Amino acid sequence: MKALLPFLLVLFSSFHPAISNTIPCFNAIFIFGASYEDTGNIAILAPTAPADHPLLNLPYGETYFHHPTGRASDGRLIIDIIATKLGFQFIPPSLSQGQDFTKGANFAVSGATTLNLAFFQQNNITNDQLIQNISLSVQLGWFENMKPSICNTTCVKYFKKSLFIFGKFGDNDYLYMLYSGKTVDFVNSTVPLVVDTIRSALERLLKQGVTQLVVPGIRPNGCMPLILAYFASTNRSDYDSLGCLKVYNNIAIYHNALLRDAVKQLRVEFPQAKISYSEFYEPIIDFVTNPYRYGFISGTALRACCGSGGPYNYNLIASCGQPGATACPYPSSFINWDGLHLTETSYDIIANGWLNVTQMRCLLHCLRHHQAHLLYQIMRPQQKR
Ligand SMILES: *[C@@H]1O[C@H](CO)[C@@H](O)[C@H](O)[C@H]1NC(C)=O
Ligand SMILES: *[C@@H]1O[C@H](CO)[C@@H](O)[C@H](O)[C@H]1NC(C)=O
Ligand SMILES: *[C@@H]1O[C@H](CO)[C@@H](O)[C@H](O)[C@H]1NC(C)=O
Ligand SMILES: *[C@@H]1O[C@H](CO)[C@@H](O)[C@H](O)[C@H]1NC(C)=O
Ligand SMILES: *[C@@H]1O[C@H](CO)[C@@H](O)[C@H](O)[C@H]1NC(C)=O
Ligand SMILES: *[C@@H]1O[C@H](CO)[C@@H](O)[C@H](O)[C@H]1NC(C)=O
Repeated sequence: MKALLPFLLVLFSSFHPAISNTIPCFNAIFIFGASYEDTGNIAILAPTAPADHPLLNLPYGETYFHHPTGRASDGRLIIDIIATKLGFQFIPPSLSQGQDFTKGANFAVSGATTLNLAFFQQNNITNDQLIQNISLSVQLGWFENMKPSICNTTCVKYFKKSLFIFGKFGDNDYLYMLYSGKTVDFVNSTVPLVVDTIRSALERLLKQGVTQLVVPGIRPNGCMPLILAYFASTNRSDYDSLGCLKVYNNIAIYHNALLRDAVKQLRVEFPQAKISYSEFYEPIIDFVTNPYRYGFISGTALRACCGSGGPYNYNLIASCGQPGATACPYPSSFINWDGLHLTETSYDIIANGWLNVTQMRCLLHCLRHHQAHLLYQIMRPQQKR
């Protein structure tokens, strides 16, 4: 079946040219996550003076929206691009009032963690400004509360045709531990707990009838300007050949390996579901290794576009969105936007890579459910070979 896919795609799009770009076969998209996914919940949750939150100030949003929206980038995020290419409007933040969520909702909140607040409190990881009570299970609670207004008694049927994008989760947990002074060994020792918490959450969704799931791994934190500036080392052997800090990347490699295993287990447990693991790690490493291939300026692969100077253009006391920080003139020539998040250009490239998989799956799904006769006709000549 896999080998047939490229063939099917070509054939199908030559029958229905309009379908090759926007395949209208999902009825909704539901998103969970943190700042890589949040399209505005943080703006709704922000404390009394929204402008105090860096994400709610320009130059955030300057490229596409021309004003800050709560998105942690100069423009659109991966999920905006995926939604558009699958034929949807931008998926509304779940906390926005008076919205119609029947075509999907985005529960992601900037800064969200995988582990509950209690874990951080028990381990003396306290930072009221950073760590809020918005973990993955809180987001699942919001989703479950919303269900009656979306599909009520028909949710299982509805979710068969809904796409769920779950994460990425994990980066914030590890960052908060590191900020609070926990050792790399401590952080690394929490990876199995973090991944198991993600796995349980996925199980909770799958048990509610979810069948189309995309689960992203985490990014190479050791290549992020914030980490490079904050945890700079005088020991050259702490850096790899790209100039990234090895230990922080190794934590991500470990997390992603466990997450891939968890996804494999879930596929066995829920054979009717299509669960795909999607990558942040590899694409970002590829950008840093071959910036010119994607139109990024070579010398800036580990520098933030928006910041206030220093070797990585990252300075904690004047980070992007705060007084003193400015954006580079052409964000599309930078991989990294603000030290931790990527530019719209980076997100666009990553989204297209993910869509490659999602769209094919979506097409197969369409064929199976609505065009079974067509699938049969297309496949018959192939099977004779
Ligand atoms: C947290 O801090 C308190 C007071 O400083 C200390 O008694 C306790 O052992 C710490 N707990 C952990 C898990 O580090
Ligand atoms: C976090 O929020 C959840 C529900 O939103 C609540 O049940 C829980 O008690 C809160 N935890 C803390 C530590 O405030
Ligand atoms: C959900 O379905 C139940 C039973 O049919 C009905 O009583 C209830 O009003 C519905 N709720 C919503 C929010 O539509
Ligand atoms: C530098 O780091 C390497 C391993 O990362 C370690 O073996 C070596 O002892 C360190 N050197 C110094 C001077 O700390
Ligand atoms: C993290 O723990 C795993 C499993 O024990 C180990 O293989 C890996 O080397 C550790 N990574 C780091 C960066 O300490
Ligand atoms: C999509 O998949 C095809 C075939 O596997 C590959 O050649 C192409 O490079 C992929 N495109 C992106 C944007 O990843």
